[in-house]
Amino acid sequence: MYTQALNDRPAAAAVEDADQAERFQARIDAEDRIEANDWMPEAYRRTLVRQISQHAHSEIIGQLPEGNWITRAPSLRRKAALLAKVQDECGHGLYLYAAAETLDASREELMDQLMEGRARYSSIFNYPATTWADIGAIGWLVDGAAIMNQIPLCRCSYGPYARAMIRVCKEESFHQRQGFEIMMTLCNGTVAQKAMAQDALNRWWWPCLMMFGPPDGASQHSDQSTRWKIKRFSNDALRQKFVDATVPQAEYLGLTLPDPALAFDAATGHWTHGEIDWDEFKQVLAGNGPCNRDRIEARRAAHENGEWVRAAAAAFAAKQSQRQAA
Ligand SMILES: [Fe+2]
Ligand SMILES: [Fe+2]
Repeated sequence: MYTQALNDRPAAAAVEDADQAERFQARIDAEDRIEANDWMPEAYRRTLVRQISQHAHSEIIGQLPEGNWITRAPSLRRKAALLAKVQDECGHGLYLYAAAETLDASREELMDQLMEGRARYSSIFNYPATTWADIGAIGWLVDGAAIMNQIPLCRCSYGPYARAMIRVCKEESFHQRQGFEIMMTLCNGTVAQKAMAQDALNRWWWPCLMMFGPPDGASQHSDQSTRWKIKRFSNDALRQKFVDATVPQAEYLGLTLPDPALAFDAATGHWTHGEIDWDEFKQVLAGNGPCNRDRIEARRAAHENGEWVRAAAAAFAAKQSQRQAA
């Protein structure tokens, strides 16, 4: 298991580890990919398990706000696209749990951590999707922010994670486009439809900026993750990329970003934004967002209701291996 106790090991092993750690870092510096069977520092493994499992949990919990709208989508075409998107998110969760399994983290243990409230997932999924326009705003902004975060992960030093991200990013770009298209349709619709789109943007904008995590000065894990090339850009740099990409899109839609301080800085070529309410972010992470309890309850219920599927799959696998042995 990845939690094996390192302190039981003899001193000679520690010297060997230091040697290996040096070679490991040299490989990272040379942009070599680390694979599942390669030697790696225990802290690298633990960092990856934490990040990949949080990412997997986010994909799985992320299905909930949108899944709620599948039966209420306004047309068959919208329903098919939303259903496909939500299924993609489930698939992303599965690739990621599989990537975590290559690091000896068992899926059952990760699931337990999530359901017992011991694991984190993206703060954004603790906000409710209250109107159809929210489905547009989520695709456009939440998936848009996810792309900014995930494209650099395609070059992450850990091979199985990086490879999973390549496919995930392709699917995320479909999600972003389907969201933007919903927003475009609403913005070209009636006055009430455009107002619905504006209202969704007003509610989702700031939580989306929080998705990139705390400001660089307050970010706990950044330095080491950067050295290991798990992280390629800082939280603030990714947030800035997202703002710069999104401002012209909002303009194109004829919508106003809910930030009176938003201004173009000609000297840097970037959009500067107003102060983010980090207290709200901390509250959501601490479990006090609008939907934290609902999300975990829904996940627990899905797990319990899926018990018979797991039992059937295990029985089938046992039968197959019996047959093979015979
Ligand atoms: Fe996803
Ligand atoms: Fe997505």
